[in-house]
Amino acid sequence: MGERIACSGQLTVLQPAEVEPADRALLDAAFAAAQHAYAPYSHFLVGAAVLLADGRVVTGCNQEDPAFPSGLCAERVALFAAGAAAPGVEIRTVAIVSPVPTPHTSFTPCGSCRQVLHTFGSRQTAAFRILLQAADGPVVEASGPEVFLPWAFSSDALG
Ligand code: THU
Repeated sequence: MGERIACSGQLTVLQPAEVEPADRALLDAAFAAAQHAYAPYSHFLVGAAVLLADGRVVTGCNQEDPAFPSGLCAERVALFAAGAAAPGVEIRTVAIVSPVPTPHTSFTPCGSCRQVLHTFGSRQTAAFRILLQAADGPVVEASGPEVFLPWAFSSDALG
């Protein structure tokens, strides 16, 4: 039998009434940010809010472009803005939401956002949680970015 590569973390589905007030406030900040999304092509509005260790909240929303691949998802807008505004400050929680209801439990971050979430996680010592919510549906809580991208590409590979 070959060597096992460990994959860790957990996803928890919470009903809206079970969500802690601080997490509710961060989700609400993300919903407010989603109102500024520029999504004339997909009409899928997304907002993200990054809670930093010093209490600051940095938000973002998806920005589409007529040259489709040039647009950017809400969570990457927020994460890169946090990296630019607060370099070296650890992230505690990232909320990613859409006011558009989904037929499933929740939408999930795209592959590129999973990579960037994972990289932000590897830039700090403590794990950060990720909260997802579509409209007033359940809140899905991930214990860390590795839940969405096990065995991710990382700077280790670059030597
Ligand atoms: N989108 C996000 O902003 N974040 C996600 O987690 C999923 C997808 C955006 C990208 C695009 O503007 C629209 O939603 C439809 O894919």
